[in-house]
Amino acid sequence: MLYTKMGTTTTTNASKDQPFSLIKILLPWTPIALLPIAILSIYFYPLSFMSPEGDKVYDYSCDYSDGKWVQDKRGPLYNESTSSKIKIKKSQNCIANGRPDSDYLYWKWKPSQCNLPRFEPQTFLQLIKNKHVAFVGDSLARNQIESLLCMLATASTPKRVKHQGSRRWHFASYNANVSFYWSSFLVQGIQRSESPKKGPKYNTMYLDHVNERWARDIDEMDLVVISFGHWFLVPSVYYEADSVIGCLNCTGLNNYNEIDFYGPLRKALRTSLNSIIERKAAKGNRIDVIVETISPSHFEGDWDKGGTCSKSSPYREGEKQLEGTDAEIRMIELEEVENAKEYGKQYGGFRLEALDVTKLALLRPDGHPGAYMNPFPFANGVQENVQNDCVHWCLPGPIDTWNEILLEMMKKWEEKPRSEE
Ligand SMILES: *[C@@H]1O[C@H](CO)[C@@H](O)[C@H](O)[C@H]1NC(C)=O
Ligand SMILES: *[C@@H]1O[C@H](CO)[C@@H](O)[C@H](O)[C@H]1NC(C)=O
Ligand SMILES: *[C@@H]1O[C@H](CO)[C@@H](O)[C@H](O)[C@H]1NC(C)=O
Repeated sequence: MLYTKMGTTTTTNASKDQPFSLIKILLPWTPIALLPIAILSIYFYPLSFMSPEGDKVYDYSCDYSDGKWVQDKRGPLYNESTSSKIKIKKSQNCIANGRPDSDYLYWKWKPSQCNLPRFEPQTFLQLIKNKHVAFVGDSLARNQIESLLCMLATASTPKRVKHQGSRRWHFASYNANVSFYWSSFLVQGIQRSESPKKGPKYNTMYLDHVNERWARDIDEMDLVVISFGHWFLVPSVYYEADSVIGCLNCTGLNNYNEIDFYGPLRKALRTSLNSIIERKAAKGNRIDVIVETISPSHFEGDWDKGGTCSKSSPYREGEKQLEGTDAEIRMIELEEVENAKEYGKQYGGFRLEALDVTKLALLRPDGHPGAYMNPFPFANGVQENVQNDCVHWCLPGPIDTWNEILLEMMKKWEEKPRSEE
């Protein structure tokens, strides 16, 4: 695995500087990682209201992004006996890799205004009957779909089916498909390579062209879950209308303008959501879309100088504030969701929501594989500079909660007729 160290600016000025101090990048299917987060600033989110029923099973008005992690003695929803059926990524199988502590498995997310029910695989499977659920994005999207498949496999074992351009699982008794499309930018482009022989060290992104690898299948998708962002933080050249509009950390490259990645990230998301609307909803078809907000990483120190994520319990309420790059990316994602909702409103078959995981993820520095991305990393004693993954999540782990919220959103949709109806 290969890593790249990047600039060390600390400002969060979105106009010019790159507000991150390190990045590690790996190729598809291997961890990508980045930016430590500091403190301060306000966590803002649109107001939501308590329903008269308060704590009913689910609540139309519940803001799932606001709450705290509380201890829960029930523990994980699945174990090795189910995750082995899914063949989850080994570097996220923390228990099998010998992670010695288990406290991180005994927490549940408690939204301030309601309760988040435990994941019910049967309910999820009922809701996706005769449907195709597609996860689109980077290795965090993959991390989440593997969590979902593990939880579903406790009720019904899916079959891996061959499909060009995606990893696909089929639940025969529900005639349902769940698939993962790797598309780290969502738009067309070429991922950077660590090896000069294999290609340039910067990403190339065509911000106004959706990546057909997933978009050509929009027609056959019923629910799209988008999770992306981390690949925007590394050196990149951006194209629009087939000409270069600028580049990120690309000094010496054809005198292109240095620009930050916020605008490009926004455009990539906008292009993607517009493509979904135009290719599906505008043709009179139904489609549901969930955009997940950025999931922060938790390196203490530099990843390449023994940077770890060694905490073994969540941050308490108020102990960690959302700020800097993570806050900025999240705002952009929420804004683009609102923009696309407005644009898609004219088509009754289009539904879109943000799944705002940024805060719940931020509070879980204990949920990453850390050194246990590799099996028994300390088998030969404690060494310096053991590689740590403080970006992805252990399975089982906090990311299971993202899927619990996803299910609540789907249940809510099921209850509420579409505007066309
Ligand atoms: C760009 O990356 C190089 C190392 O790859 C680093 O030395 C430099 O400071 C970075 N520049 C900016 C503006 O972040
Ligand atoms: C895993 O979970 C299953 C079902 O809940 C249980 O029967 C089994 O004993 C567990 N296996 C291990 C190794 O904990
Ligand atoms: C599921 O995938 C299979 C194989 O790729 C396909 O034949 C079938 O039509 C799909 N079903 C749904 C509901 O998307």
